[in-house]
Amino acid sequence: MDGWMPLSRANFVLNFIALAMAAVIPVMLVSWYQVRQHRNYGLHRRLQIILGVVLGLAILVFELDMRLNGWRQYAEASPYYTTFVMPSLIFHLCFAIPTFFLWIFTLSLALKQRIHIQNGNHRSRHRFWGRLSALAMIGTTLSGWLFFWLAFVA
Ligand code: HEM
Repeated sequence: MDGWMPLSRANFVLNFIALAMAAVIPVMLVSWYQVRQHRNYGLHRRLQIILGVVLGLAILVFELDMRLNGWRQYAEASPYYTTFVMPSLIFHLCFAIPTFFLWIFTLSLALKQRIHIQNGNHRSRHRFWGRLSALAMIGTTLSGWLFFWLAFVA
């Protein structure tokens, strides 16, 4: 299925994930707006859990694909292959790896503490970790696109 998408030189899995990441930021914004403006805790909770599970599955498929196919063969034609591709990958991983652990931590703490019915301490702690997790996810998405463009589009 390589090259079936006009988006880039990369394979289906890489193209699909790069494209699908565009949905993550709007979903997080809706979730944040709902909890902040409308105190719609139920929707926020559900959206964040769904996002966490879907992203977890995406990471699983992505990691399998990397082990089986790799990515370098699609990046070799890039004019930046020997310059910016590796630094941008490392830059991206500086976001992606902490984001992975932050999301596991934030989700499990929120679920364990049942913060929608709990005291203010838990809630302000969740606000801190929630905002950090959301910012880290935005950084992961933007740096991921930078790498994707340098490696597979340019
Ligand atoms: C990784 C997943 C999550 C992220 C990134 C996240 C993010 C956030 C953010 C940024 C806020 C602060 C809104 C603001 O005042 O600016 C917030 C508030 C809140 N979240 Fe989450 N959240 C996540 C998961 C959950 C889950 C699973 C629950 C429910 C069990 C939950 C329940 C709440 C509640 C009740 C508030 C309101 C706290 C308050 O203002 O007193 N969140 N979340």
